[in-house]
Amino acid sequence: MRFDVFTLFPGLIEPYINESILERARMRGLLEVHVHDIRAYATDRHHVTDEPPYGGGGGMVMKCEPIFNAVESVLGAPPACPVILLTPQGRVFTQQVAMELSQYPHLALLCGRYEGVDERVREHLVTDEISIGDYVLTGGELPALILMDAITRLIPGALGDPDGAIDDSHASGLLEYPHYTRPAEFRGWKVPEVLLSGNHAEIARWRRRQALLRTLQRRPDLLEKAPLSEEDRKFLEQ
Ligand code: ADE
Repeated sequence: MRFDVFTLFPGLIEPYINESILERARMRGLLEVHVHDIRAYATDRHHVTDEPPYGGGGGMVMKCEPIFNAVESVLGAPPACPVILLTPQGRVFTQQVAMELSQYPHLALLCGRYEGVDERVREHLVTDEISIGDYVLTGGELPALILMDAITRLIPGALGDPDGAIDDSHASGLLEYPHYTRPAEFRGWKVPEVLLSGNHAEIARWRRRQALLRTLQRRPDLLEKAPLSEEDRKFLEQ
């Protein structure tokens, strides 16, 4: 999987991709991240990347030219892969969207700043727009990292455990069951007996039920869309 990130603040992206899972995926050749400084593609003497909006009003708008120059010099014209703008106006990022995007071998992520980007970037360069939630951040860099993180852990071999992403919260449409590790008793609080039983069928059943209960208690909205078996439905009706 390859990501090309276009940003005015490359220094915000680099520390995160140089640690932990993303770093390991890069070292294993599963992930390539190229970070591009949009400012370097501004052709005027002062490398201006933003200007006040036509028609007045507050804030600054990111200019077309440096963005088109940056994306097209790296990815060609038209660009060789989807170009995703991170913006609070995009479709909302979910595990489903992460799975969908993980099918592409190559994605470009364009990080907006200030009041946003000139509308012509949206109309003529960007192919998809994604929001990470209904709140406004100072820029698209954290959202770009969130996309890369969620997508990278879906790449086979990126997580230490090959099944690591299978039981994730949201992967099955449900929240994940609770986890415990050693010791079996801490301050008198015991790990549920079934988990120590070695009975894999019982453990799987307990986990499924915990996931159902947890989703019912915390995110009942998810149950409407989750694929449920007859047994799941019976359990929930109790
Ligand atoms: N840029 C600013 N806020 C954002 C959000 N919520 N999602 C994606 N990009 C953003």
